[in-house]
Amino acid sequence: MLHISIESFIIPLLSALWIMLPAYVPNPVAALLGGGTPVDRGRNYSDGRRWLGDGKTYRGFFLGVLAGIGIGLVEMQVSGAYGLSFLPEQTLLSVTLLAFGALLGDLVKSFFKRRLGKERGAKWPAADMYDLVAGALILVLIADPAWLFANLTLWSFIAILILTPLLHRSVNIIGYLIKVKDVPW
Ligand code: CTP
Ligand code: MG
Repeated sequence: MLHISIESFIIPLLSALWIMLPAYVPNPVAALLGGGTPVDRGRNYSDGRRWLGDGKTYRGFFLGVLAGIGIGLVEMQVSGAYGLSFLPEQTLLSVTLLAFGALLGDLVKSFFKRRLGKERGAKWPAADMYDLVAGALILVLIADPAWLFANLTLWSFIAILILTPLLHRSVNIIGYLIKVKDVPW
């Protein structure tokens, strides 16, 4: 008999959120607290456009990564205190890679965005949403593949692909309404 229980939807969904929380937090924190010296220090690439642009700053990068690691440490505490063994088990390494990877993906995205001639803040729908997913998961895949294969199932991967655009869009609209972001994407 085909048995589809509520758990078969909820667990991959919760696992997806649990894995990605340290990767989701850095972007909004960078938008809130970023500013100052740009990562490319104002330099142009050979095409005459900026390497990355004024939207990628050291302060945004490091405070964002720290915030992502911070939320990961909270996850580790909560999961230890409440014995949440049905959720993926975050480690100091996994949360660091996820947070770092998310903003590295964001930098790489901006590099290619500039090469396509898109200005800072211009819309580039798929890339603006999936840069952090690609960055975070590829960095974990390279640096801690055993963790990734032990904790990311096919279903939670699919849940990540569905959840990310929804969360991304909602958070950016909120950011726009409270005037942290200039554009609602
Ligand atoms: N931010 C930052 N440092 C980073 C990433 C983001 O300071 N490493 C801040 C910037 O103020 C940026 C805002 O967060 O404007 C929103 O980030 P994002 O949408 O990624 O940047 P954009 O300004 O849209 O630039 P791009 O077109 O390069 O994506
Ligand atoms: Mg943007």
